[in-house]
Amino acid sequence: MKHFLSIKELTQQQLLDLLALARKIKAKPQEYSQALKGKSVVMLFEKPSLRTRVSFDIGINKLGGHCLYLDQQNGALGKRESVQDFATNLSCWADAIVARTFSHGTIEQLAKYGSVPVINALSDLYHPCQALADFLSLAEQLDDLSKLKLVYIGDGNNVSQSLMYGAALLGARMTVICPAGHFPDGFEVTEAQRIAKQHGGEIVLTTDVNAVQGHDAIYTDTWISMGDNTALTDIRAKFAPYQVNRELMNQAGAQYFMHCLPAHRGVEVTDEVMDGEGSLILDQAENRMHAQNAVLVTLLG
Ligand code: CP
Ligand code: NVA
Repeated sequence: MKHFLSIKELTQQQLLDLLALARKIKAKPQEYSQALKGKSVVMLFEKPSLRTRVSFDIGINKLGGHCLYLDQQNGALGKRESVQDFATNLSCWADAIVARTFSHGTIEQLAKYGSVPVINALSDLYHPCQALADFLSLAEQLDDLSKLKLVYIGDGNNVSQSLMYGAALLGARMTVICPAGHFPDGFEVTEAQRIAKQHGGEIVLTTDVNAVQGHDAIYTDTWISMGDNTALTDIRAKFAPYQVNRELMNQAGAQYFMHCLPAHRGVEVTDEVMDGEGSLILDQAENRMHAQNAVLVTLLG
């Protein structure tokens, strides 16, 4: 593993190894307290963040490394200086680059031109650190992730695309339920379905909310991702049947609720579900750090 740009680029074994390492680091953090000693990580964020920024910063610290946050939140990389020059210059000093960008192409360019590992901290296409933490959270609840039945409901976005690849590699079953016109990218769906087939899993897409039935966990995310200028008032009625509420949880028979956060309470999910029994949202948030630390140790340790 040279970079961590997408779950799609992993083999099944690499994904399982990352999950196992994350559990080890979580269980015995003191054994990894010097894993990144003398290493510096630069974080470049074009978009806002709470969880990703804080969990990387504190996580790197817990591994004995040092991190530097470069605030790009006022605009895309490549305006003052080309992405290529960003990558080559940062590679002179840093041991790794963690980047959150509007375009996935920017992250690929950082990896192409830089000489140090690049970690995707969210792009328009993927959120691999999130998916890794999510499968870690599910692995803590369920013995065998190949038997997992996961439903993602709402907007087909970066988070859903990374989850599809994770489910595919694990040989799990995933149902993606979206309003018409809001499915994940067609190319990513075909790729995820191809990988799922190789591992005995299945990715099914539908607009039918009744397809929630018979799943272990229901996952949703914001209906409007960062960088999307759609007004909520324009889509609210169309998305309303896809809200995760108590009724939908009961219909699914799902024990667990998941959301990457930030959530819009009362929009894509009700308070009752967010704060109710079976909500894994804080496990997911906590596990961001352990999952990312496993990535850092694998790439730099
Ligand atoms: N889930 C997640 O990536 O949260 P932030 O946008 O706050 O980093
Ligand atoms: N899909 C969301 C995830 C935020 C963590 C977004 O891209 O804004």
